[in-house]
Amino acid sequence: MGRVRRWCDDETLAKDISGRVYIVTGANSGVGLETTRQLVKQGGHVVMACRRPDAGEAAAQSFAGLKGTYEVMRCDLADLQSVRDFADAFLAKHGRLDGLMCNAGVVVMGNEARYTKDGFELTIAASYLGHFLLTELLLDLLKKSAPSRMGILSSVVHAGSPNNRYRVHLDDLHFRARTYSAYGAYGEAKVATVLYAMELADRLKGAGVTTASIHPGWARSNFGGRGLLMNVVRILLLPVQPFVTDSNELSAQTSLHVLLSDDAPNHSGAYFSQSSVLYRDKGCRDGGWPMESPNPHARDMGAARDLVEASRKLVGLT
Ligand SMILES: NC(=O)c1ccc[n+]([C@@H]2O[C@H](COP(=O)([O-])OP(=O)(O)OC[C@H]3O[C@@H](n4cnc5c(N)ncnc54)[C@H](OP(=O)(O)O)[C@@H]3O)[C@@H](O)[C@H]2O)c1
Repeated sequence: MGRVRRWCDDETLAKDISGRVYIVTGANSGVGLETTRQLVKQGGHVVMACRRPDAGEAAAQSFAGLKGTYEVMRCDLADLQSVRDFADAFLAKHGRLDGLMCNAGVVVMGNEARYTKDGFELTIAASYLGHFLLTELLLDLLKKSAPSRMGILSSVVHAGSPNNRYRVHLDDLHFRARTYSAYGAYGEAKVATVLYAMELADRLKGAGVTTASIHPGWARSNFGGRGLLMNVVRILLLPVQPFVTDSNELSAQTSLHVLLSDDAPNHSGAYFSQSSVLYRDKGCRDGGWPMESPNPHARDMGAARDLVEASRKLVGLT
């Protein structure tokens, strides 16, 4: 079908990163696992920040024989105290942080919103607010370790369609007054990650810390869970799967480009995307490292600053 598939160049994937320290959230599965595997392969030390440490340990058995090292630490991004505990434990143990990949994410299927114990809607809590707190708590170390990099996973879904562009609703971030929609909540949370990468890049200009938001592609991961609906979707997709979906290894390429390539720091704050048939804007389907988001709400620096100010209050940083 002539789809562009974006792979890191050989030079990037051959760099020796021995001595460098990385954090990957949601590292036990899918895109996060393959991002971690490549970093370990190239000699890095990766802290796998996992909601379920046993799943992280089990997944990491497959790294046997690779040059680098890893450790698994518990971090539930939908629980602010767990994020704080993780950051404290990491800072007590590590004196440098070369790259932070905010990879974890969820989509909460169904017609009802689910809430975390902090009172946040679960999708935005795990995909954005937890990562916001984590990044802010580690910011001093990222600066001390400069040049260093931060990436955060967004999704093609953030782009919406020409008739329906998602935006962050600061007046009702947690769907208390609005009708919940799984796709809408996911799209809004992923607009938030694009805005955060953009705002942070602006705030960190000159500090040697660069940022990016990322669409990884349509990964054949565990995303969406193993419920009936997702299993039906997977079965229906089987005939076209090789053409429209991506292996987890391919889906990790954009994150690896952001963390390792020489070029990514030249575009701090930008949106990097694997090609994707899921863009409703046809002109975006080839993706780009970087590319402009077709969603104007995801390019609005005023909205980004408002989001960050509101996020600071929500996570208790002010
Ligand atoms: N798959 C796609 O096609 C696609 C497309 C666009 C964007 N993305 C984004 O790519 C990222 C990686 O997803 P994936 O495709 O690799 O899916 P995946 O295989 O389901 O991996 C998601 C990871 O996030 C972790 N996670 C979920 N909730 C968490 C929480 N509260 N605290 C800490 N970790 C949590 C999961 O942990 P558990 O295993 O414990 O649940 C898992 O490790 C996500 O941000 C997703 O939104 C994926």
